[in-house]
Amino acid sequence: MFENRKLKKIKRLNKKAAKPEFKSAEIIKSLKIYENDKIVDIGCGGGYFTFKFSEEVGKKGKVYAVDMEPECLDYVEDEAQEKGIKNVETVLVDGGLELEGGLNLVFLRNVFHHIEDPVNYFKHLKQFLAPDGRIAIIDYRKTRKINFVNIFGHHTPEEEILKVMEKSGYVPSEKFDFLSSQSFVIFKSVKG
Ligand SMILES: C[S@@+](CC[C@H](N)C(=O)[O-])C[C@H]1O[C@@H](n2cnc3c(N)ncnc32)[C@H](O)[C@@H]1O
Repeated sequence: MFENRKLKKIKRLNKKAAKPEFKSAEIIKSLKIYENDKIVDIGCGGGYFTFKFSEEVGKKGKVYAVDMEPECLDYVEDEAQEKGIKNVETVLVDGGLELEGGLNLVFLRNVFHHIEDPVNYFKHLKQFLAPDGRIAIIDYRKTRKINFVNIFGHHTPEEEILKVMEKSGYVPSEKFDFLSSQSFVIFKSVKG
């Protein structure tokens, strides 16, 4: 059974992700997901995007819901079971990540600022990507607003994300500016 406070936090993450200002439908459209794709949702939280991806990839696709908090994964598993969803697999991590190869999309929303040693983290992820695999990173920008994100430093400048990803061996393939408080960049691996 969930500790009530954690369950509330997990539900709050999903409620927030669903707010119109965060434009989840536009995000999904921008990601150009295909049926049968294999996707990883790193730092899935309550799985708001995990379940969107699950619909997009269909029965033969696969979505890995990755998090460091076992309660988040328990929540995602319970939801999947309740809805009869079979293409979602949860992965509990302790900072690092080991997965099967051939991933079409690695997705991180509001997680980049949590990653310790991001250059080595994303270098390590390369081996799991399909040849045309992509990494999509959405993170908060610092704004003047007095809110949780700004007070507790839950943000990363877009230039910093670009720098880290370049050092890790990626180049930006697409950038989007429809999110008012977040940056959104899709990266592909530099070949060779
Ligand atoms: C702000 S929440 C975002 C949740 C979800 N991505 C969303 O958009 O609603 C950040 C999540 O990342 C997880 N997290 C933090 N560091 C992580 C890491 N190194 N690997 C995997 N998950 C991580 C946290 O446990 C938390 O669930």
